[in-house]
Amino acid sequence: MLWTKRKTLYSIGISVTILFLFIFTRKKYPNSVPPWPTSNNIVIYNRIPKTGSTTFTNAIAYDLYKENGFNVLHVNMTKNRQVMSLPDQYVFINNVTTWTERLPAFYHGHVAYIDFTRFGVANPIYINIIREPLERLLSHYYFLRYGDNFRVGLKRSRAGNNETFDECYSRGGKDCDMKQMWMQIPYFCGHYHFCTEVGSAEALKMAKQNALEKYLLVGTTDRMRDMIALLEVTVPHFFKGALGHFDQLDENRAHLRYTKKKIPPNEQTLSMIRRDEVYKMEREFYDFVRDLFDAVFKKATNGTSRAADLTKMPLQYHFEKIKPT
Ligand SMILES: *[C@@H]1O[C@H](CO)[C@@H](O)[C@H](O)[C@H]1NC(C)=O
Ligand SMILES: *[C@@H]1O[C@H](CO)[C@@H](O)[C@H](O)[C@H]1NC(C)=O
Ligand SMILES: *[C@@H]1O[C@H](CO)[C@@H](O)[C@H](O)[C@H]1NC(C)=O
Ligand SMILES: *[C@@H]1O[C@H](CO)[C@@H](O)[C@H](O)[C@H]1NC(C)=O
Repeated sequence: MLWTKRKTLYSIGISVTILFLFIFTRKKYPNSVPPWPTSNNIVIYNRIPKTGSTTFTNAIAYDLYKENGFNVLHVNMTKNRQVMSLPDQYVFINNVTTWTERLPAFYHGHVAYIDFTRFGVANPIYINIIREPLERLLSHYYFLRYGDNFRVGLKRSRAGNNETFDECYSRGGKDCDMKQMWMQIPYFCGHYHFCTEVGSAEALKMAKQNALEKYLLVGTTDRMRDMIALLEVTVPHFFKGALGHFDQLDENRAHLRYTKKKIPPNEQTLSMIRRDEVYKMEREFYDFVRDLFDAVFKKATNGTSRAADLTKMPLQYHFEKIKPT
């Protein structure tokens, strides 16, 4: 008798609780809740100057955003600084991960690697492209003097200065100083104070670690087409159709920017540079990344190293023993 009574009381109690929970949760989560942002609908390309980044950005972002339905945003760093303060990083991360009207999004800008995970948020998809460090520096050196075919009218900061790289190097000029070589390591090292310390072994180590663990892909300038092909099959919701698009660009657009005049350095300059510690470190980083990319590409093409094979590769696994049937 007592037991039945207690049971009834229990049932009433449970029903009331469920009703309350129902009303409460309905109030708290209306039907129009925006989807919780996930980081894999954000791609960040923290582009490095003079690595072909304009060609790449135009061909895979500004040409494809309409068709593939994503947003493209340039991160313009004040006074061309490459690093953000910690509070600025917080605001940036908070903004890009919650700005639902601008998702999915492709961000590009001259900014060092930002680690979202330090703020308790998953990282977005990071990609980048690097170039042989001396080639990159030469390109930059002559670009400042002669400009390129992209913004033709624009007067560059060293316009009118016709000093060759060799002349600059032999008199120890500033533009060809090996400090200028310290570029790709700090971009990958990120926001630690030692990253911008020219010649820091810690920075090189960190840059390698980040390139390995935090970036989906890092390609090289001379293999831009292979990079685009890999992106198409690894981040298709952004880069579907990218290779076909790149292949039908005319020569001018596929090599959108080239520095107008470049004088290769002589043997004496070259042999001095090859013995320079800063160059050796940047070169070590470049070789490391290039080998990584090459291995990934070989594996993905089953050894043929032909970009066109990527989309045709049959899957090398299948599901089975699926339950419940
Ligand atoms: C970045 O912003 C500044 C100031 O608005 C502007 O002068 C500059 O041209 C911008 N940079 C690029 C690459 O558009
Ligand atoms: C992100 O920043 C832009 C530009 O300042 C602003 O218009 C937008 O409302 C911000 N979005 C969020 C979610 O903070
Ligand atoms: C560089 O320019 C100066 C004058 O502007 C000229 O006298 C000199 O011959 C030029 N040198 C080269 C290598 O073109
Ligand atoms: C991958 O390469 C191996 C060795 O060349 C070959 O036997 C195999 O058929 C290839 N697989 C595919 C899917 O092309």
